[in-house]
Amino acid sequence: MSRVLDVKGVTGGYRSVQILNGVDLYVDEGELVTVIGPNGCGKSTFIKVLFGIADRYEGTFIHRGVDVSSWRTDKLVKRGIAYVPQVDNVFPSLTVYENLQMGGLDIGSADLHNRIDQACDMFPEMRTRMSDLAASLSGGERQMLAISRALISAPTFLLLDEPTAALSPLYQDQIITAIDELRKDSISVLLIEQNAKLSLSRSDRGYIFVGGKIAHTGNAKEMANDPSIGEYFLGFQD
Ligand SMILES: Nc1ncnc2c1ncn2[C@@H]1O[C@H](COP(=O)(O)OP(=O)(O)OP(=O)(O)O)[C@@H](O)[C@H]1O
Ligand SMILES: [Mg+2]
Repeated sequence: MSRVLDVKGVTGGYRSVQILNGVDLYVDEGELVTVIGPNGCGKSTFIKVLFGIADRYEGTFIHRGVDVSSWRTDKLVKRGIAYVPQVDNVFPSLTVYENLQMGGLDIGSADLHNRIDQACDMFPEMRTRMSDLAASLSGGERQMLAISRALISAPTFLLLDEPTAALSPLYQDQIITAIDELRKDSISVLLIEQNAKLSLSRSDRGYIFVGGKIAHTGNAKEMANDPSIGEYFLGFQD
């Protein structure tokens, strides 16, 4: 099995404010890997450092055998890595269709139309909302739009930051199921989640972040059923 992402000894943060204290983590081809952990432990910062948005001090990010540690965001996207941020992940004043177009600014219009069509196969209800403003969408629909937009660039590796936060159980289930199915399209996924049991039960492996580093890792299904995991993570009870 080939390695999609190999993270070794990453420290980083925001200028001189250190948040990450040495992160080691990997994602293999076709895996869905969940990262959980208490609020403020550095999960979002980790993805931002990987994506060139926050500062890396030390350590390496190897993507499919290439050291991309110092790469800019746009270059990472061209390489097939996509990122759905935790907040502000749609443009509220644009329509659903325009939001999807923003996901493929350098794609020719015929291809773009096809990609948008394919992205909508994942969440068919998007099709009926194309000319509505993103501001008019529910929280769940916004997350679906944000994920669909990330797929327009045809990534092979997707990073998702809490896509089910604050959603109803029905939407949570629909979104995690859709993420799980991305593996059929050969997309490997690193998923940050608060809904630990739900996402671990669909994942291959899990990591627990505490204080800017990995406190525990293991088989995701075993973690989902391990009562001691709750010691790391207050939100573990469902
Ligand atoms: N732009 C920033 N500048 C300085 N510190 C920041 C910045 N953004 C976040 N932080 C701090 O970094 C720490 C880690 O935040 P981060 O958002 O990575 O946590 P998280 O694990 O994603 O939490 P949550 O589960 O609430 O999303 C927090 O103490 C936060 O206040
Ligand atoms: Mg976060």
